[in-house]
Amino acid sequence: MDRISELQEHGISSVDFTGKNSVFSLPILGKGFVGIVIKANIDRNTVAVKIRRVDASRKELQHEAKMLLEANSVQVGPKFQSVSKNCLLMELINGNLLPLWLKSHSEKRFVKSVFKDLLNQCRRLDKLGLDHGELSKAPKHIIIDKKMKPYIVDFETASNTRNVSNVTSICQFLFLSYGPVGKTALKILGNRNRNKIIKVLKKYKTKKTNENFNLVLQACLY
Ligand SMILES: Nc1ncnc2c1ncn2[C@@H]1O[C@H](COP(=O)(O)OP(=O)(O)O)[C@@H](O)[C@H]1O
Ligand SMILES: [Mg+2]
Repeated sequence: MDRISELQEHGISSVDFTGKNSVFSLPILGKGFVGIVIKANIDRNTVAVKIRRVDASRKELQHEAKMLLEANSVQVGPKFQSVSKNCLLMELINGNLLPLWLKSHSEKRFVKSVFKDLLNQCRRLDKLGLDHGELSKAPKHIIIDKKMKPYIVDFETASNTRNVSNVTSICQFLFLSYGPVGKTALKILGNRNRNKIIKVLKKYKTKKTNENFNLVLQACLY
C-alpha cells in the first residue's frame, strides 16, 4: 500500500504544509533519518504524522509506536494515536525545539522549571526501564510548547532492554556539554559546579535511587 492510501486509512483528510523545516521546498514540522513529520487533519483534530522515509534503515514504525506507548504510560512524549507500516500518528506539539526556544526565553526561572520538568521526565523513563537512546545529543528531540511544557520526541532508537541512561544523558547534554545549548544554559543559570555534577551523576549511575536522583537535581538546578 502506498503512503497516501495509508494516510487515508488513518482517517486523515488533509495535510498542512507548515513548519520550520522543508522537503522539496514544502514546509514541514521536522525531518530526521527515519522520517519526516507533517501536520495533518482528521476531521477537526490536528495530529502530527511521522512518515517513514523510503530510504530509512528501519523497515517499519511499529517498534517506535510500542516505545512511545510505554513512554506515554509515565506521561512522557507526544500522545500516541495510531500506527501502520509507514505512518505514526501522534499528538502535535506546537512549539520550538529547545535550542531555538532558549534564544527567546532567557529568564532563569522559566529555564529552570523547564529543565526540572525534563529531568523528572527522564527519571520516570529510568524508573520504567525505557532508554530513549538519543538524549545526550538532544537538540532535535526536545520541543517546548506554548505553555512552556517540554516534550521528548523520537522514540525510534528507544529500548526497554538496554541499560537506562536518560537522566545522565540529559544532564550531560544540558549541563556538561560545550555545545550551543550547554553554553546558553550556563549563561542563563549561572556557573554550575561541574565536578559536583559529574560526581553525583556517577553516584546515580551506579545506584538509581530517589535519594541519588535528588542529589542530581540539587547539583544541576539549585
Ligand atoms: N509530535 C510532534 N509534534 C511536532 N513536531 C514533531 C513531533 N515529532 C517530531 N517532530 C519534529 O520532527 C523532527 C523529526 O522527527 P523524529 O521523530 O526525530 O524523526 P527521525 O526518527 O527521522 O529522527 C523532530 O526533530 C521534531 O522537530
Ligand atoms: Mg530524530
